[in-house]
Amino acid sequence: MRSRSKEGIEKGLGKELYSVVLRLKETLEPVGMGRVVGDGGTIFVICDMAVLENWQRKGGGTMIMEALMEFILREAPPKSYVNLMADIDGFYERWGFVPSLPRSRGMVLNTD
Ligand SMILES: CC(C)(COP(=O)(O)OP(=O)(O)OC[C@H]1O[C@@H](n2cnc3c(N)ncnc32)[C@H](O)[C@@H]1OP(=O)(O)O)[C@@H](O)C(=O)NCCC(=O)NCCS
Repeated sequence: MRSRSKEGIEKGLGKELYSVVLRLKETLEPVGMGRVVGDGGTIFVICDMAVLENWQRKGGGTMIMEALMEFILREAPPKSYVNLMADIDGFYERWGFVPSLPRSRGMVLNTD
């Protein structure tokens, strides 16, 4: 996941359709997050999935995805386009995601 600018964060954070912050039960310290952005009717994009390195591979990412998917499956009308960019193999497949290739391929424009 690329870092974002402070300006971008101030402008964009809070405008998502749905977001999840994973916190430690004891201290409430945030250790992970995930967001859904889109128009709420036709397109839903899962983004900014992240768990702090020390807390990875302990099921936190799965908990975040479960919550995001519960929202999407509840809210998305039929024929909605639900997508994400996967940086790892074998994780998002659990929720039914499949590679968009060869039908389409994800492309990015990295602004400076
Ligand atoms: C991707 C990410 C959010 C997953 O969170 P997590 O808390 O580690 O996920 P879980 O513990 O629920 O992992 C469940 C399974 O996903 C798969 N998985 C998770 N991270 C993986 C990785 N880096 N490489 C390969 N498989 C991975 C494994 O199958 C894992 O099960 P296992 O630990 O029994 O092998 C987290 O690894 C992360 O923040 N990575 C760095 C940021 C990043 O790349 N974000 C964009 C992802 S598209």
